[in-house]
Amino acid sequence: MRRLLPIYILVFLIGCEDPVVENTPVDLDLTSITYEPKAFEYQLPIQFPIFEQPDDNQMTEDGVELGRHLFYDPILSRDSLMSCSSCHLPSGSFTDNLPVSKGVDQIAGTRSSMSLLNVGFHYRGLMWDGRVNSLEEQALLPVEDPIELHTTWPEVIDKIQRSELYPEMYRKAFGISNTNEISKELTAKALAQFERSLISSGKSKFDRVNAGLDIYSPEEQMGFEIFFDTNLNLPDGQCFHCHDGPLLTTNEYNNNGLDEAEDWGDFEDLGLGGHTGNLFDNGKFRVPTLRNIEFSAPYMHDGRFNTLEEVMDHYNSGGFRSKGKSTFMDSISLTTEQTAAVIAFLKTLSDPDFNDDPKHANPFE
Ligand code: HEC
Ligand code: HEC
Repeated sequence: MRRLLPIYILVFLIGCEDPVVENTPVDLDLTSITYEPKAFEYQLPIQFPIFEQPDDNQMTEDGVELGRHLFYDPILSRDSLMSCSSCHLPSGSFTDNLPVSKGVDQIAGTRSSMSLLNVGFHYRGLMWDGRVNSLEEQALLPVEDPIELHTTWPEVIDKIQRSELYPEMYRKAFGISNTNEISKELTAKALAQFERSLISSGKSKFDRVNAGLDIYSPEEQMGFEIFFDTNLNLPDGQCFHCHDGPLLTTNEYNNNGLDEAEDWGDFEDLGLGGHTGNLFDNGKFRVPTLRNIEFSAPYMHDGRFNTLEEVMDHYNSGGFRSKGKSTFMDSISLTTEQTAAVIAFLKTLSDPDFNDDPKHANPFE
């Protein structure tokens, strides 16, 4: 009599991209595989700040490569349905282009996915409210978050230890000598290494102009001057007070008047105050980078604006009366032509070479 394959093996054969071998022992000796770490080489666009890496997680070629695989691998989620990249897609400058993200159970959160472009330079706290200190710490969270990947670390580590692909990659990245040393901490370190490699290409028009290799069109030039308040004959856009420097963010926390709030307690999302507990921090959010802003719509922490035109309507009006609103948030009342000029300047920050870089792409495709 022919025996049918047990149903769980069938599901396994159909459902998995990474071969996770059920009976693989989790204490395989890996010392026969050579461990020769090579420092990861990167190039910074002109005027970028110094790139700091934690002493205990210096980037290596193999570490970044492992992180890239993990980032795109649904092995990190319940039922292997989603990966980090489901909410951080290269085509959206590593956002999901949704107002707010949905997790593996299709439950929507309250915040919009953030671009991971130059995320290694955000040293004053991560997330819209700054509640996380490092990329290593951040990378531990989505796996167990019920509105994100919604599984458990022991389950994920078990799958990684039994996979055909990963034990060798962990050996090459971290020099472990046995599969049983694969841990959530090393997994987070690899993810963080990959994320730090997500650096601007330096080929945006903005970078090329800074390097003296290109010039702005008259419209872009007008937008630049309004953005940086450099022309006495044009209105001050005030943008640079918060979106400054080569990263186009001060990395600080501000209230840019998105919500009407008579009192400190009136904000629906408390932002920074929600985690510091300081009333005066309520309603403040991290100033996001504007690099690649053309590709990361919709905008703001809750994705409320669909277009850059809507964003400019907000800044033109100065936003709502709101407790703690920044003094730089006056109505700027630009003309239609001036508003279009600011948007034209914002588009010089586009860096399609970054989105399309094969080094950032899904290794399983
Ligand atoms: C369900 C969608 C979803 C998944 C899956 C997801 N993220 Fe995110 N990510 C978000 C959202 C939404 C935020 C902003 C959250 C907030 O501020 O509360 C965010 C924020 C971040 C940030 C902060 C960026 C910054 O500039 O502060 C990092 C880093 C990050 N995610 C990395 C990852 C990694 C690594 C994974 C996989 C382990 C992952 N994300 C999986 C939706 C997701
Ligand atoms: C007082 C500081 C401040 C000023 C001035 C300011 N911004 Fe912002 N900007 C912010 C903050 C904070 C956010 C995020 C707010 C949130 O989502 O709660 C933001 C968000 C944005 C976004 C959406 C980014 C994203 O990823 O969703 C764009 C676009 C933007 N600002 C453009 C501008 C332009 C153009 C100007 C000048 C006309 C300007 N900003 C002036 C602080 C400021």
